[in-house]
Amino acid sequence: MHVLTVLDHPDPASFSAAAARQFMAGAQAAGHTSELADLHAEGFDPRWTLADANGETSSDVLAEQDRIARADAICLVFPLFWWGMPSMTKGWVDRVWSWGWAYDQLDDREVSLQRPRTGVLLIPAGARSDEIEDKGYGQSLDTAWTKGTFGYFGWSPRHMELLCGATGSFERRRALLDRCHHIGLTLPTPTCATRQVVRTQPVQN
Ligand SMILES: Cc1cc2nc3c(=O)[nH]c(=O)nc-3n(C[C@H](O)[C@H](O)[C@H](O)COP(=O)(O)O)c2cc1C
Repeated sequence: MHVLTVLDHPDPASFSAAAARQFMAGAQAAGHTSELADLHAEGFDPRWTLADANGETSSDVLAEQDRIARADAICLVFPLFWWGMPSMTKGWVDRVWSWGWAYDQLDDREVSLQRPRTGVLLIPAGARSDEIEDKGYGQSLDTAWTKGTFGYFGWSPRHMELLCGATGSFERRRALLDRCHHIGLTLPTPTCATRQVVRTQPVQN
């Protein structure tokens, strides 16, 4: 498979960058080809503009969509910020996975305009896993992202991995990075659990 990894972190020495590298190393060890979208290094503009609102596809968005088009699997790596996505990832998702290109309806998250792709979210988080689970944060993120958002984009199967305790001990961080490598190494192939729709030209009345 061809695997696209999308990294959201300005610091190459960050845990998030290390997680992306380990995931990619695992995927490459499994024989997959690999491509990195390093959003900060490349200066992606996450601001949703008037052009985006008007349905115009600007060149930077088109370049990201071309990357996605050649990928069979996609992995987003971003640190958990206030129980959500950092603004760079949020803007990349908002602008690139646009209405009319990724999806065309909001009443069924299992219908996408895109072909099925394996989808992985690797999310370093400062909190410990017991804190995240006790308070229900993990469940709410899984509902919003795995069950919600990324279904519209045709990701199937899709998997969210919260890398809890990413600011913890060396041993903890080592174990989390090993887990990222393993996830890359054992990437499943895309399945057809989500239904695709074929776009037709609008009927002229
Ligand atoms: C603005 C900001 C918000 C954060 N919000 C959360 C949060 O809601 N939950 C959490 O567990 N960690 C939170 N963190 C901690 C980060 O997730 C943690 O620092 C990061 O995963 C460490 O990885 P890095 O070295 O790649 O930055 C936050 C950090 C920052 C800077």
